[in-house]
Amino acid sequence: MTPDAARSAVRRLVRWFDRDGPDLPWRRTRDRWAVLVSEVMLQATPVARVVPYYEDWMRRWPAPGDLASVTVGEALAAWQGLGYPRRARNLHAAAGVIAAHGWPAPARYEDLPGVGRYTADALRCFADEQPVLPEDVNVRRVVARRFPDGWPGAPRGRSWHAGQAMMDLGREFCRARAPRCDDGCPMRAGCPAADAGVVDEVTPRTRRQARYEGSMRQRRGHLLRALATDGRVSVGSDPEAAASLVAEGLADRRGVVLVPAGSAA
Ligand code: ADE
Repeated sequence: MTPDAARSAVRRLVRWFDRDGPDLPWRRTRDRWAVLVSEVMLQATPVARVVPYYEDWMRRWPAPGDLASVTVGEALAAWQGLGYPRRARNLHAAAGVIAAHGWPAPARYEDLPGVGRYTADALRCFADEQPVLPEDVNVRRVVARRFPDGWPGAPRGRSWHAGQAMMDLGREFCRARAPRCDDGCPMRAGCPAADAGVVDEVTPRTRRQARYEGSMRQRRGHLLRALATDGRVSVGSDPEAAASLVAEGLADRRGVVLVPAGSAA
């Protein structure tokens, strides 16, 4: 594939996004806090599930200082049901840092708690509109299949659109299993993986998520749900899961009960 052909595929992708890209709430803003909240939520949770949580969260805490002024327990309670609650704890910690010191320079976003390369690149692309492509597992898969020589870059001034479009393409067409190559994929023409019939073979392998049923993740989830509804839960109902929540700062222990993290003694 020539560099020109690769860039022309990106132009088609952006045109498709302009016409068909879904109007998601975090796409109507370039506010860094809104982008950070949405991208952290989207890291491990599907779009449709994130939308109501994102809207609720931004209504309650429209700026980092708003979240920093409540306890981490309140943040965890609002997160209830999204999964992987460490993300809420990290967001709360990041809000505290931003409220106290302001935003780091874009090159230093990774200094914020819980912000790794993907989230930092998402901030640079989706808030600052810098010409970078945030690569999560879905985007990496699309790049591996469609651009084996690497991402060719977006047309000038269109990095935000190209980045969002890659997310949508990975979810709707270039799926890990049962990709819909011939079902309207806007980058199907000239796709080296589809043309060679090796779409599956060039899919980067990811660790499969461990079974949830019976897992420590599920047991911790039970306790956190009970904490969110009742405000306390007996340590004895699952001492091992309780200890692991306390160790990670996701709950506090008061004698024989767990209470929400950060609640006054
Ligand atoms: N997944 C991760 N980031 C996303 C975004 N901005 N839009 C849709 N899906 C996403």
